[in-house]
Amino acid sequence: MDLTDKVVVITGGGGGIGAALARRFHAEGARHIAIADLDAGTAATVASEVAGSSHSLDAADEQAVADLVEKVSAAHGPIDLFCANAGIATGGDVFSKEWQRTWDVNVMSQVYAARAVIPGMVARGEGYLLLTASAAGLTTSFDSAPYAVTKHASVALAEWLAITYGDQGIGVSCLAPQFVDTPMGRLAGESSEGAAAWVQTIMIEPDAVAESVVAGLADKRFLILPHPEVAEYFQNKAADYDRWLGGMRKLSRGLSVPPASGASVRGEGTAEPEAQG
Ligand SMILES: NC(=O)c1ccc[n+]([C@@H]2O[C@H](COP(=O)([O-])OP(=O)(O)OC[C@H]3O[C@@H](n4cnc5c(N)ncnc54)[C@H](O)[C@@H]3O)[C@@H](O)[C@H]2O)c1
Repeated sequence: MDLTDKVVVITGGGGGIGAALARRFHAEGARHIAIADLDAGTAATVASEVAGSSHSLDAADEQAVADLVEKVSAAHGPIDLFCANAGIATGGDVFSKEWQRTWDVNVMSQVYAARAVIPGMVARGEGYLLLTASAAGLTTSFDSAPYAVTKHASVALAEWLAITYGDQGIGVSCLAPQFVDTPMGRLAGESSEGAAAWVQTIMIEPDAVAESVVAGLADKRFLILPHPEVAEYFQNKAADYDRWLGGMRKLSRGLSVPPASGASVRGEGTAEPEAQG
């Protein structure tokens, strides 16, 4: 997909990866970029940088997502690219109280986005969905069951949409980075010194993610991996699950990641190849 003259919506566009996507899409010549975020103030700031519109939105509110799509389409024409990017990182294990909210924000928001745009895209025979998942959706997250599970669900949803609607002209890409230098990504280094040092070695800038996304969209590539090594981790997992599980336990011990019920290093689905079993 070439972004020139396209109408784009970005949820979670007020900060981090979403804001970097907005700036890059603007530089690529997008016609209109709608920045939707829980935080109306940051959404307005980013929207003014990209000559777009800003919208206060809880992406987990289905009616609000439908209303946003209607409003943007009425004002600027059909949405060419919907980036379902809003997400939250909640720590915790199976006992976490954050399961439902994490599910609603990380998964149902993407289902609601698909419900809102797919009928129009199918009718026009074109359109594109970018779902932001995470490398944690391909491998795992060390200390957060809700994050690992919901990001796997996001990958599964993207796959399903690509298979089901690909022949009707709809493009789908799934964005799966490891650590990115955003408020969410920076939180990841806070639970142990080992984790902080390790996160620093693999953290990339949001602009690098945007670069990868533009290249991935241009190729209509399903899986967009700003950290290309994640492809190898994913292959290692599929090739020998038990060996991979052993490697992940070893890596987690080495990083002194605290028990899952503590706060919040999300592993963003990593395994050093040498740590794999
Ligand atoms: N930063 C990382 O290391 C990393 C790695 C892999 C994947 N991701 C994923 O990338 C996406 C963006 O993450 P980020 O690092 O930019 O996070 P961030 O916390 O820096 O920014 C997220 C933005 O989303 C907004 N937001 C949160 N909940 C929302 C909701 N319910 N509705 C609308 N907006 C909402 C926030 O206000 C914020 O502006 C998330 O889906 C995240 O899981 C991040």
